[in-house]
Amino acid sequence: MSSNKIIKIKNKKKKTKIVCLTAYSKNIAKILDNQCDIVLVGDSMANVLYGMKNTNEILLETIIKHAKAVRLGLNKSLMVVDMPAKTYRSTSEAKKNAKLIIKKTRCDAVKIESNKMNFKIIKALVKANIPVMGHIGFTPQFKKRFKIFGKTSLEKKKLLNEAILIEKAGAFSLVLECVTESAARLITNKIKVPTIGIGSSSSCDGQILVTDDIIGLSGFYPRFVKKYLNLNKLILKAVRKYKQDVKKQYFPLKKHTY
Ligand code: KIV
Repeated sequence: MSSNKIIKIKNKKKKTKIVCLTAYSKNIAKILDNQCDIVLVGDSMANVLYGMKNTNEILLETIIKHAKAVRLGLNKSLMVVDMPAKTYRSTSEAKKNAKLIIKKTRCDAVKIESNKMNFKIIKALVKANIPVMGHIGFTPQFKKRFKIFGKTSLEKKKLLNEAILIEKAGAFSLVLECVTESAARLITNKIKVPTIGIGSSSSCDGQILVTDDIIGLSGFYPRFVKKYLNLNKLILKAVRKYKQDVKKQYFPLKKHTY
């Protein structure tokens, strides 16, 4: 089942753009299911949901808890779960934790960030029949400072080399985060697996954004985010109306009462 879904995603390269978003809960997953090819239970939940300073603070058990909820809302989309920082420092640690994630959440694949050295971790996971999505460019688990990657020809070369090694290790797709358009185009044209961009231009085979950002809930709007809805404003409007109703005793009415 999972392998069919993965083949379908790989086959979309150069044919149709791949649509991806994040989900941390059942209700959001249910909405995304009919719309997205891939739904990622991202470690971005650390900042977005828990207000933590960085993604490295999120625990494996927390990701698993949210991924179990997401599973309840997902049927069609490929479900990928982020492996949190320090859960894949060796092949044995990576295998143990990836197997736990898959067993507990019934996800289709895991995502791991590249530190430019962990290609053999991907290889070991793939060998153990665990589909892996790679992640290069800005990789928050390993980089403290935000920057755009692939500005110089040397950086472009290094990124391409990293992408090729990840593809060779067996990853079925590759997230490019905050990579220049020319680097994204070069990588997308050179590797056979789909590239999924975030802040990395339309040259990628697909796009991913954090759902809370596009619906205006997170308050985080860097240049690469397009805000499609101001949910903060809509929620505030509803809460104010509720407050007013309670104060004026317009709520609850007889019809809300047993
Ligand atoms: O954690 C996350 O949401 C991610 C995406 C931004 C790619 O890794």
